[in-house]
Amino acid sequence: MLAGIRELLLISTSVDLPMFRDLLGDGSQWGIRIAYAPQPRPEGIAQAFLIGREFTGENPVCLILGDTLFYGHGFASILQRATAVETGATIFGYWVRDSERYGVVEFDFRGTVRNIEEKPARPKSSYAVPGLYFCDSQAAEIAASPSPSARGELEIADVVNAYLAQGALRMELLGRGFAWLDTGTHDSLLEASAFVETIEKRQGLKVACVEEVVYRMGFIDAAQVEVLAAPMRKNGYGQYLLQLLSEKVAMASLTDTLLK
Ligand code: G1P
Repeated sequence: MLAGIRELLLISTSVDLPMFRDLLGDGSQWGIRIAYAPQPRPEGIAQAFLIGREFTGENPVCLILGDTLFYGHGFASILQRATAVETGATIFGYWVRDSERYGVVEFDFRGTVRNIEEKPARPKSSYAVPGLYFCDSQAAEIAASPSPSARGELEIADVVNAYLAQGALRMELLGRGFAWLDTGTHDSLLEASAFVETIEKRQGLKVACVEEVVYRMGFIDAAQVEVLAAPMRKNGYGQYLLQLLSEKVAMASLTDTLLK
């Protein structure tokens, strides 16, 4: 949403999908549209482009993995820049200790991207590719061509490498001031929670509060924030939403280029 995207397709297992639908609805309460589609079997991230083919039509697409958390100053501008690029693909690179667990960027001596290697035994750099991909309307067509990898999946790295071969890949490095956290295991979820709690407690501002994001992005107005806050008036979350409408938090947002 910080990227300015208002049409979302949520892909999950057939078992989990109804729960997401109950929780998030059709998105109209947040001024966006959320549609849902199942991925019956875990056959790879790139399959999302095929599942979403009808939804995305001839439009560019952004794919983000659900277990991914990003935090960092200026992130909204980075996302909006990626959205503005209409052809090719944009991916990100982020320095991690254990890049062999991810898609890894290989650079040539000039620092140009040469290849993305999926979970290499001997990674050629410490730059992992986070699960956030911006692609033009060719994504589904490209995803339809590579055959599944040894682990039986349509690999996103193959799609990215196809863009690279066309000379149509942009990569932006996210600096060390950024946090890219994985929440795919119990441990990592707990770590990410502690990180978010620390920031939120220190600032008294919420991280990735959906209602706040859509309000500051102009997708909903103050009256709608009040409607959303009403059933939660008695808890801290509802009170935070109401505070958004007060001068105090409005001032905090003035010093924050994130949401401009
Ligand atoms: C997937 C991608 C990998 C990417 C990672 C980011 O890995 O295949 O290229 O770096 O997500 O989280 P997986 O979650 O399938 O292990």
